[in-house]
Amino acid sequence: MASADQVVIEPSVLYVGTPTYLIATENPDGTANLAAASSYWALGRMLVLGIEVDGQTAANLLVRPDLTVSFPSAPLWRAVARLSDLTGRDPVPAAKAARYRFEPDKFRAAGLTPRASDLVGPPRVAECALAFEARVRRATPGLDGSYLMVEAEVLRVHADRAVLDPTGQHIDPTAWNPLVYAFRHFFERGVEVGWLASSPTAPHPPVLD
Ligand SMILES: Cc1cc2nc3c(=O)[nH]c(=O)nc-3n(C[C@H](O)[C@H](O)[C@H](O)COP(=O)(O)O)c2cc1C
Repeated sequence: MASADQVVIEPSVLYVGTPTYLIATENPDGTANLAAASSYWALGRMLVLGIEVDGQTAANLLVRPDLTVSFPSAPLWRAVARLSDLTGRDPVPAAKAARYRFEPDKFRAAGLTPRASDLVGPPRVAECALAFEARVRRATPGLDGSYLMVEAEVLRVHADRAVLDPTGQHIDPTAWNPLVYAFRHFFERGVEVGWLASSPTAPHPPVLD
C-alpha cells in the first residue's frame, strides 16, 4: 500500500549489494573455467554460493568439487564486466543464447592471470588481493530448479600482504576494498562507519551511546 514515504514496487533485480567474486572450476578437459558471481555468504569456514544450474560452473562443481573464489577490488570491475556475457558451456544453453557466447579461455578474455593453487586443481586469479581455495561439501537444488546452493569448505586463504593488519594474521578491513555489486552496478566499499567489539582488528570497543 502506498504511503507518503513508501510505495510498493516490482523491481526486476533484487541484488541489494554483495561482494563480486570470480569462481574458477575445472572443465572436463582439465582446463579452468572462470565465472563472475555475487551470490555469497560465509559462515565460519563454510561458503554458501548461489550458482545457476545452466552454467559450466555448476556442471563442473557437481562432478569436480574443487574451486577457487577470488575477490576483485574496484579497479578490476571491467574484467568482471568482460565476463558478463561469456559462458564456458558449449553449446550455449538456449535460454542464454541471445546474450551469451561460448568462451573456452575466460582468464584470457577477461585479461586476468591464472595463478596455481596449492590444494585444489583450479587456479586463483593473480590480480585479486584475496582468494580462497575451497571444496564443495554439498550442492542442494534451489526451489525453482534454476540454481544450486553450493556449500563449500575453505581449505586455504591467500592474501596480499598489502591488505593485512600489522599481525599479518588478519585482513585489515580498512585496507581491503571489495568490489560491491548492487542492482547491476559496481561500487567501492565506502567509508568505515563503525565496527564490532568482536573484530580482531578493532582499535577499541565501539562507542554505541
Ligand atoms: C557481476 C555478476 C554477478 C553474477 N552473479 C552470479 C551469481 O551469483 N551466480 C551465478 O550463478 N551467476 C552469476 N552471474 C552470471 C554468471 O556469470 C553467468 O551465468 C555465466 O554465464 C556463468 O559462466 P559459466 O556458464 O561459464 O559458469 C553473475 C554475473 C555477473 C557479471
